[in-house]
Amino acid sequence: VAIPLRELFKDYFLIGAAVTPQQTDLGTAHGQALKTHYASLTAENVMKPDALQRVKGQFTWDNADRIVQFAKNNNMKVRGHTLTWHSQSPDWMFYDENGDLHTPEVAMKQLEEHITTVVSRYKGDVYAWDVVNEAMFDWDPNGQIIYREDSPWYKIMGPAYIDSAFVYARRADPDAKLFYNDYNSIFSWKRNKIYDLVKRLKDNGIPIDGIGLQGHWSVNTTESDLRTTLNLFRELGVELHITELDIPVYASNDEPGSTEYNSTFSFRQKVAYSMIFNVLLDYSDIITNVTFWGIGDDHTWLDKPGRKAFPFLLDEELKPKPVYFEVQKLV
Ligand code: XIL
Repeated sequence: VAIPLRELFKDYFLIGAAVTPQQTDLGTAHGQALKTHYASLTAENVMKPDALQRVKGQFTWDNADRIVQFAKNNNMKVRGHTLTWHSQSPDWMFYDENGDLHTPEVAMKQLEEHITTVVSRYKGDVYAWDVVNEAMFDWDPNGQIIYREDSPWYKIMGPAYIDSAFVYARRADPDAKLFYNDYNSIFSWKRNKIYDLVKRLKDNGIPIDGIGLQGHWSVNTTESDLRTTLNLFRELGVELHITELDIPVYASNDEPGSTEYNSTFSFRQKVAYSMIFNVLLDYSDIITNVTFWGIGDDHTWLDKPGRKAFPFLLDEELKPKPVYFEVQKLV
């Protein structure tokens, strides 16, 4: 018999899910699954800059409020995602009416207003924020390119926006935990850049509490990449959150897509998820939240026509899959 995930992991870390506002309704299967299994919620999209402040100075709170209220009613925490990002942010944050990039002064002021308004609104309700998302350059084995240079934030002012974003967030809610969040963070070419960034921020007295590792991992993810990264980040003395966990069933992009979950997929996921949770449990002194990037296999950003990803422990009907019971055995 399945033990609810939030029970299963209660002595180790908060277990969470990314949600749409529509899913946070106890009258639906999604709402019920959330209440049963998850102790932490993240808005999949509706707390991003383009959702909260599509028009300069006009904030839209309804969708985000709905998620926060549901979490409060059902004894869950909320991770805020995300305050500063190059993507899903309104053009006016970066460009003037002629299409030219803002001056650093204008952009910085707008960033301060956005962060201050959003973090203040959810003061005490959002316990941790992804303050800056995906600021490091992704693929660069020689380590020459440090920051994501195609980010308009970077184009306007270099990395200064990263430092400032954390300062603004701390000022608006001194009790919220502040995170730097990124993907591919377990690979050698990126983990060292993230390490250096967080080290620099800490050395300069910038308020940062943790690193979010987007867990968009795969059935090829290796135990050594995970452990090496967790050991490295441990040296920084920060908390770690696994923020966007999903493991699609395919071993490569070339593999033909399917819309049926088969025994090969199931086997691979059992192996991958067992290895991953075994490692995460070993590091539960520094890992304080593990959040799936969805609830069950019916809704995931990874699905494409004719190619379903089936990336979670719950199936399309939000029932535990065989891989769920493999993970349960580890605890
Ligand atoms: C994704 C959402 O899941 C999609 O619905 C949306 O269309 C695009 O963004 N890294 C992140 C998340 O930090 O915000 C992204 O979420 C997935 C990658």
